[in-house]
Amino acid sequence: MEDGQERDDGLGLSGPVATAKLLHQVAARSAKYLTELDERPVAPTPAALAALATFDESMPEQGTEAAEVVRLLDEVGGPATMASAGGRYFGFVTGGALPAALAANWLAGGWDQNGFSRVSSPLAAALEGRAIAWLLELFGLPASGGGALVTGATMANFTALAAARHRVLEGAGWDVESRGLIGAPPIAVIVGEEAHATLFKALGLLGLGRDNVIRVPVDDQGRMRADALPAIPATAIVCLQAGNVNSGAFDPAAGIVGPAHAAGAWVHVDGAFGLWAAAAPERAELLTGFAEADSWAADAHKWLNVPYDCGIALVRQPRDLSAAMAMDAAYLLNERHGEPIDFSPESSRRMRGAEVWAALKCLGRDGLAELVERNCRHAARFAEGLRAAGHEVLNEVVLNQVLVSFGDDETTRRVIAAVQADGTCWCGGTVWRGRAAMRISVSSWATADEDVEKSLAAICRLAADIR
Ligand SMILES: Cc1ncc(COP(=O)(O)O)c(C=O)c1O
Repeated sequence: MEDGQERDDGLGLSGPVATAKLLHQVAARSAKYLTELDERPVAPTPAALAALATFDESMPEQGTEAAEVVRLLDEVGGPATMASAGGRYFGFVTGGALPAALAANWLAGGWDQNGFSRVSSPLAAALEGRAIAWLLELFGLPASGGGALVTGATMANFTALAAARHRVLEGAGWDVESRGLIGAPPIAVIVGEEAHATLFKALGLLGLGRDNVIRVPVDDQGRMRADALPAIPATAIVCLQAGNVNSGAFDPAAGIVGPAHAAGAWVHVDGAFGLWAAAAPERAELLTGFAEADSWAADAHKWLNVPYDCGIALVRQPRDLSAAMAMDAAYLLNERHGEPIDFSPESSRRMRGAEVWAALKCLGRDGLAELVERNCRHAARFAEGLRAAGHEVLNEVVLNQVLVSFGDDETTRRVIAAVQADGTCWCGGTVWRGRAAMRISVSSWATADEDVEKSLAAICRLAADIR
């Protein structure tokens, strides 16, 4: 169909030329959003939040032209976003979106591939396969391992622990995929006191129970104490953590994996952000012993800085994962060659491999190492600046996480609220060893030296006002 002759069905759902025009508009809008991000408050203003009431309408009877839909979304929705794509958002553990990864996300959106198999999308399967191979290499894990890209670390923990559950019960002569857990031999799940909340959710979803765990005491940084490990039975899953969400600390894997394996147990690693330290030679020592585990969970939407959502589940033996995830051999496909659907809890799924591949290809080993190291250097600078201003840094800053107290809990909470309202930067609150703390997580490619200095000055100014 030639330009100008496109069918317009009156619903704004016209042909490729109109789509192209719309996408150009969106590109301009998105570029404007990103270039102006530095100038706006990091958290949305009260006026921007109030405008969200625009979306409170009943289901429309009639359609709206696509350009108008996009305009509304951009002009009402955009200002109500958190500026987490910018350089001064330090909340939770949140990466930005690298330009190449964002562009890959746009391309993938246009392609609209179903990434469940080679048949539904040869490209999605190829890129996911390549991404998994590169990730195994980057993390120093065996090339014979396997895995899947999932929604985030919660699902990556779930996915890897499903493989663990399979193997441990198989060893006890029980086919859990077929028979379920009712009547199954008991599994001992061993976790550190400081395991991430989402790990317990994953355990609950797997029928292993959120509270049916043995909790190992931790030290003052939240690291599991190897000297406090219980006796480990063969039907056990030991969950280690690489990167405590508050302190950034790593469990002492070297002293735990050996005894766990000697007992016949499975060792899983929640390395949502900490696993990325393996990519930075100066931090890699933190990961001593973790590569000997049986499964690993990480997030690409954290330190690899790809758009949401993207988590990574990896296993030493791909067959443990496919035993847990594959369905009836004949389901949908005549032939199977290690299809994504056989390693993932999802069936139809988006093409996450495009963004992971693009980010890794664009950064290369050097670029990723520089990104991780720069964020860690910035975290150290925050700690140094806060201490110099008389504030108490509560953790050993070994990675990208900084915990700071501004005095008593009430004062700390007031400073956090003031920082969030001020808009120069955004940091969240947490509780660390019974004390209120502000947590600064430096995880974005977009954070530059000036962002750190500007944020530090704002935090210290606001804290001085309150104290
Ligand atoms: C150690 C750890 N595990 C799991 C998660 C959950 O990650 P997601 O929100 O991507 O599911 C996080 C998030 O911060 C984390 O830090």
